[in-house]
Amino acid sequence: MIRLAILGSGSGSNALNIIEQSKDRKDVQVGLIICNVAGAGILQHAQNNGIPAVQMSNSELNSELALLDLLKEHHIDWIILAGFLRKIGSNICQAFPNKIINIHPALLPKYGGKGMYGHFVHDAVFQNKETQSGITIHYVNEHYDEGNIIAQFTAELAPTDLPKDIESKVRALEMAHFPTVIFETVLK
Ligand code: GAR
Repeated sequence: MIRLAILGSGSGSNALNIIEQSKDRKDVQVGLIICNVAGAGILQHAQNNGIPAVQMSNSELNSELALLDLLKEHHIDWIILAGFLRKIGSNICQAFPNKIINIHPALLPKYGGKGMYGHFVHDAVFQNKETQSGITIHYVNEHYDEGNIIAQFTAELAPTDLPKDIESKVRALEMAHFPTVIFETVLK
């Protein structure tokens, strides 16, 4: 059984989708949820699904040791970043080489890097009148949004699309593809 930890900072819609789709599988389970934001939706999803969840402060995350201990304690094999808005430190990257995956709500290398997350991405795509956006699923290294790309999926944008419409199209791609790429491509 492959054990996943999901790290998130927000509403946790991607985490919930992964949790739900993992329930039908015998080869993989979500063993731990970690969140750096008190009261974030992802913590509620963990509780509703009986998954151990830990809220860690940003300073605890910075030191990395508490996180490493927790991952070991829960026998975690892979780390999934699903809306986790902190950088992953070098100790964690070294302990999980090519075993950390992130989803980014744009077509990297465009609209990546520090400060490019959530609505900031969709606002920038809107301002630049892009005709496409999408999602990128990639391995994580010590630099924001720069690890090797595993898969990208594209949404066509209409000239009338507002940032909220761009976000809806991107979220639909996340729901359709993120668990499938994890289970059928990455973990195979
Ligand atoms: C998702 O759209 C994800 O792609 C994005 O945050 C959202 C989290 O939503 N991630 C980033 O922007 C990372 N740079 P969720 O908490 O509902 O899954």
